[in-house]
This record gives sequence, structure tokens and C-alpha cells, in this order.
Amino acid sequence: MHVLGIESTAHTFGASVVDGSFRFLSNEKASFTSDGPGMVPREVLRFHQAHADSVLQSALKPLGPHPEKKIDAIAVSQGPGIGTLLYEGLQVAALLAAEWGVPLLGVNHAVAHLEIGRKECKAKDPVYLYVSGGNTQLLVRQEDRYAVVGETLDIGIGNLLDKSARLLGLGFPGGPLLYELSLKSQGFVELPYTVKGMDVCFSGLYTAFKSRFEKGGVEDADLAFSLQEIAFDMVCEAAERAMAHFEKDELLLAGGVACSRILQHKAKVMCEQRGARMLVPENKFLTDNGAMIAWNGLLALKSGQTPLAQDAEARPHWRADDVDVLWV
Ligand code: ATP
Ligand code: FE2
Repeated sequence: MHVLGIESTAHTFGASVVDGSFRFLSNEKASFTSDGPGMVPREVLRFHQAHADSVLQSALKPLGPHPEKKIDAIAVSQGPGIGTLLYEGLQVAALLAAEWGVPLLGVNHAVAHLEIGRKECKAKDPVYLYVSGGNTQLLVRQEDRYAVVGETLDIGIGNLLDKSARLLGLGFPGGPLLYELSLKSQGFVELPYTVKGMDVCFSGLYTAFKSRFEKGGVEDADLAFSLQEIAFDMVCEAAERAMAHFEKDELLLAGGVACSRILQHKAKVMCEQRGARMLVPENKFLTDNGAMIAWNGLLALKSGQTPLAQDAEARPHWRADDVDVLWV
């Protein structure tokens, strides 16, 4: 049994094949980067269109000649994400599914981020800290749902990092570039810290960051360092509250921002102090990737999820807590 997964919700066009014994045969991707204004949907769409074929071909290569005879289902990220990019991925996947005569399965991108981490880290019942460009959420599994128990009340933490990096004239994605810059820091700049129970807010932090930058007189590296310290402390505080409240002894990091070594360190220290385990998969499974879609597709297929119609709509605002989680 083989499932092909296709990811195209934002900056990355990814494709991956997973087999029935839960092994990945491939995990190929092309990710949009920019020195300029960041993710302009039209430009990203052109990027995806230019790379889709070669990414798909490389992902299918391990199946040898006639891969279409070995694929049992195609899974695609149906949402959440940027509308035009979702439609493009859905169209590619639907055409292949029709041509090959296999079911098309709609996967929730957010849940896929959680499930790949659970698999790779062999997590049992963690609090999930999902930190990406568009999302910042704390979740726990409750029977057939992922319940969002805390989240950002405004922008995603990755969006904060990307906007801040852009302001400093760095490129996209901003997370890794801010980190590199912050290694040169020699001082801390006071910026607002906003945690409300298990929820967080980042717009005030961004506004303060922007006005300190525009006022001048502070090193960019110090601003970059302070922004990360505060934003990552905020999500760790909220995560610790969730672990205490729901009596969990595992914290699983998910989403592209979880690649941050600063965040990983802070989360690890917090977990160690509570006698809990901090779990985080490899970077290739944190930033958007086809493997997480293929894996979630396999779970969906095995649990009898109803396939999508050929003309299924994308779901740009589909939340993780609105997904029927049919698998154990
Ligand atoms: P989602 O729909 O899940 O919000 P996304 O489009 O944000 O997906 P991801 O790949 O999950 O995509 O996350 C991208 C974010 O991760 C970007 O904001 C990027 O700056 C950030 N990021 C990537 N690598 C790092 C890193 N090493 N340190 C900090 N942030 C990082
Ligand atoms: Fe993502």
C-alpha cells in the first residue's frame, strides 16, 4: 500500500510517498524564499507551478516505472492556507487521482503538523505547541477531536518573526535570519509581553518592535534577540500552564517555528523543571512538507475517511478543532 501526499498551502510545494508499513519512500519539496517583500501569493503560485512537476516526479521515483499502478490514494492539504495556493494543490491532486482512478483524501494541514510529530517522536498524549507562520496554538487530544486550549488572539508567531525580519531588511523566511542576526546581540531591549491564561497576543509586541526600530539608537541584533526571547517565553509560559492544567507530562513542538533552537531550548528547560519530556521531530518534518500530508492521508485511508469529490473546494480557514479525528 502506498499513499502520495501533496502539500501546497503556503511557501512550500511538497510531495511524499508513505507505504503501508509507515515508512517514507520520499519527502521532496521546493520552498519559496525571497530577499524582498516576502510571500506575495501571485509570486508563490508561479513558484509552485514551476516546481510541481519535478517535485512530484522525484517523490514518485522510488516506486520505479509506472508509479501510478502502486499508489492506492492521494492525500492533499485542503486547508488552512492561502486560497490560490490551496486550489492549485487541490487541482494537481484531483487530476492525478482521476487519471489514476484512486481516492482523493482531504487532509487538514494543522492536524498533519501534529500527527507527524506524534509519529516521529512516539508521543503518547502530549500538549501540542503548534507554532508556524499562520498559527500559534496549544492543543490536546480529546477523543475524536484536537481541542484548541490556547491560541494567539491576533497574528501567528511565525508571521511576527517574518514581519519583523522584513522590517530589518532581512529576507523570507524571517525566522532563521532573525536567529542568525541575534547571535551578534550584546543587549536586551524591553518590549511588551502579553500572555492571557493560555492565550497570547503578538501585535503589541510587533508595534513596539517597529517603533523602537524606527526611533533608532538600538542595534538590530539586540532587537532581534529581544523579540525572540519575549515571543518564545510567552508561548512557553502558556504551554506550561496547559501542561499543568491538563496534567500532561509531554510537550510536543510542531510547525516551522519549532525549528528555532532558542524555542527548543526554552521548552526543554521548562519541561525538565516539571519532570516532563520535550519532544520535537527533525526540521524536515517541522516546516511544511509532503510527508506529513502522506502520513495523515494513510491514517485517514485506514480509518475509512470518505474521499473528496473531484470538484471539492479548498478550505482556507479550516481549523484543527473542526476535524473529525477518526484514527487512534
Ligand atoms: P501554517 O499553515 O502551518 O501556519 P506555514 O505556512 O506557516 O504553515 P511552516 O513551514 O509550518 O509554514 O512555518 C513557517 C514559519 O516558520 C515561518 O514563519 C518561518 O519564518 C518559521 N521558521 C522556519 N525556520 C525557522 C527557524 N529556524 N527559527 C524560527 N522560525 C523558523
Ligand atoms: Fe505549516
